[in-house]
Amino acid sequence: MLNLGVNVDHVATVRQARLATEPNPVEAALICEKNGAWGITAHLREDRRHIHDHDLAELARRVHFLNMEMAVTAEMLGIAEKLRPHSSCLVPEKRQELTTEGGLDVAGQEQKIRQAVERLHAAGIIVSLFIDPEPAQIEAARAVGTDYIELHTGRYSNTSGAEQALELERLKQAAVQADSLGIKVNAGHGIDYVNIAGILEIPHLHELNIGHSIISRAIMVGIGQAVREMRNLMDRYRF
Ligand code: PXP
Repeated sequence: MLNLGVNVDHVATVRQARLATEPNPVEAALICEKNGAWGITAHLREDRRHIHDHDLAELARRVHFLNMEMAVTAEMLGIAEKLRPHSSCLVPEKRQELTTEGGLDVAGQEQKIRQAVERLHAAGIIVSLFIDPEPAQIEAARAVGTDYIELHTGRYSNTSGAEQALELERLKQAAVQADSLGIKVNAGHGIDYVNIAGILEIPHLHELNIGHSIISRAIMVGIGQAVREMRNLMDRYRF
């Protein structure tokens, strides 16, 4: 079965818009689990713009399979070693980006990534590397000893027509290459309720990590009930 990992960062983004206590990403994660999510992903960014340290600590305690998305920094490695999430997905991180923009350049920094993989493995954490579907990156991923790669589906998601078909082909070939090297394959970024049709053609997939489209859909399918509940409370007004 193809596992669903739900990224709950956007729940924390809404909370941080008001520096409030709700919505709570941990509560959201537990609802996701109850409704078919196999795992929960949260990205503790260096600037803490959405998920905070206490969110991650509580997620590590309360969800079954937490995937900690993180930059390869001494600080993040230390936090992972302390919290021991089920898995860590190593991503590149730039301060100004709206979301993770490109894949991790494993080929260009093999030694650094290998050391990070070894530290995480020593802590009993499964490691995934978020990479573009490029043969050299997949070779490098094997060289550094990762368990999984997560194929970056952002370009597939942001294109259409022939360009999208070509990118889907690259994703399929990357999955075949990784599988032949004994690396397990996940995919994520920009996957939505429409473009998932193509994603399902990629062989050897274990898990899809999806955030934006699910949280967006949650707002649209939930806003009606939220308004009704407030309307009902206001109906008690007697003046
Ligand atoms: N996988 C990785 C490595 C990501 O950085 C993100 C975005 O945080 C996702 C999956 C989920 O992407 P989206 O929010 O576009 O579904």
